[in-house]
Amino acid sequence: MKRLAIVLLATAFTVPAQAEDLVRRGRQIAEMNCLPCHAIGAGDESKHPQAPPMRDLSKRYPLDALEEAFVEGIYSGHPDMPEFKATSDQVTALLAYLDTIQSDSR
Ligand code: HEC
Repeated sequence: MKRLAIVLLATAFTVPAQAEDLVRRGRQIAEMNCLPCHAIGAGDESKHPQAPPMRDLSKRYPLDALEEAFVEGIYSGHPDMPEFKATSDQVTALLAYLDTIQSDSR
């Protein structure tokens, strides 16, 4: 009985713990830096009327293309969009999170 529970647990967590951790950190970064304007979840509304929900970003860009922009400090030319400079670690985490919420992924 005990053995069965362990097998079930092992199959329930197919995502490696490290990847989960990365996604969790990415979500925190998004909550702190982007949530004031952008929707960052699967079904929430952006607080800033012009800010696209993050789940739709990959409809406009491949997520990979955003990586470079984030590392260099993203600035879309919009006055309300603050410059966001992140370490490459933070960017990796943020993109890992964004990847999990894209509306058109998989
Ligand atoms: C103060 C409000 C605000 C914050 C905070 C903010 N954004 Fe934005 N962002 C905007 C607005 C408004 C736009 C739309 C700009 C436009 O359409 O000209 C935008 C657009 C974008 C775009 C798309 C640009 C394009 O050309 O389509 C990306 C990518 C983006 N933001 C990423 C982020 C990320 C990542 C964060 C957090 C690290 C963030 N933004 C934080 C307001 C914000």
